[in-house]
Amino acid sequence: MRRLIVAGNWKMNKQRDSAVQLTKAVADGAAQAAGSIDVVVAPPFVYLPAVLETAAGTPVTVAAQNAWHAEKGAYTGEVSLSMLQDLGVETVILGHSERRDLFGETDELINAKTTAALNAGMTVIFCLGEQKQQRLADETDAVLDRQLTDGLKGIPAEQLSRLVIAYEPVWAIGTGLTATPEQAEGAHQFIRNWVSRNYSQEAADRIQILYGGSVKPSNAAELLAQPNVDGALVGGASLEPDQFLPIIEAAANLAKSA
Ligand code: PGA
Repeated sequence: MRRLIVAGNWKMNKQRDSAVQLTKAVADGAAQAAGSIDVVVAPPFVYLPAVLETAAGTPVTVAAQNAWHAEKGAYTGEVSLSMLQDLGVETVILGHSERRDLFGETDELINAKTTAALNAGMTVIFCLGEQKQQRLADETDAVLDRQLTDGLKGIPAEQLSRLVIAYEPVWAIGTGLTATPEQAEGAHQFIRNWVSRNYSQEAADRIQILYGGSVKPSNAAELLAQPNVDGALVGGASLEPDQFLPIIEAAANLAKSA
């Protein structure tokens, strides 16, 4: 049985006070889930200390939204993995489509970051997903295959236990459009088969694959109920407790009834 994960990607939102308030509310929601699922929040870098302090002693895991793979040096504006670990952050989101599309991150760069983060002992939430025109042109599988092959190049099997994959169709991110449960399940099956072919059936059975793209209270239960969907990476709906807590609850209900 794979554990469900509900992760909130706050992107470039919140200020210190509202970040602390939201963390408190998420911690209450996570406590209600009583350990049946994992709950993650990913605030902007500058609020990591405040959020870590608020989340200490609660079931909430705090993640970073990005990192740079070099140990240190002349990388103006970047944050290293060891800086994150120094704060107590052990989970990092890498390869988000906004990093790919707005900031030009390539599969090669994402591979370097993923390799460095896993080597540092961190947990990586590795994001991938197709653009709208790629889906329309029936290229989804080819795009996912390339993102997996190039993005996970050289990652040894023994590090896969700290890798979580997040399938996020770009056309569904922040658009209000959601993949249908069938579309999500199909892509997740493809990803799991890829892991089975390139690693092992055991690794494929174990790896957690999250869905992201306009997840909200009204669609969470149905998406999470798909056999190959092991959680959600939530953007917009992670910013308000009245949106995010029902998603945590939907996951906890599924976990408890499983
Ligand atoms: P969204 O974002 O839920 O606002 O679509 C998801 C994500 O980008 O992780």
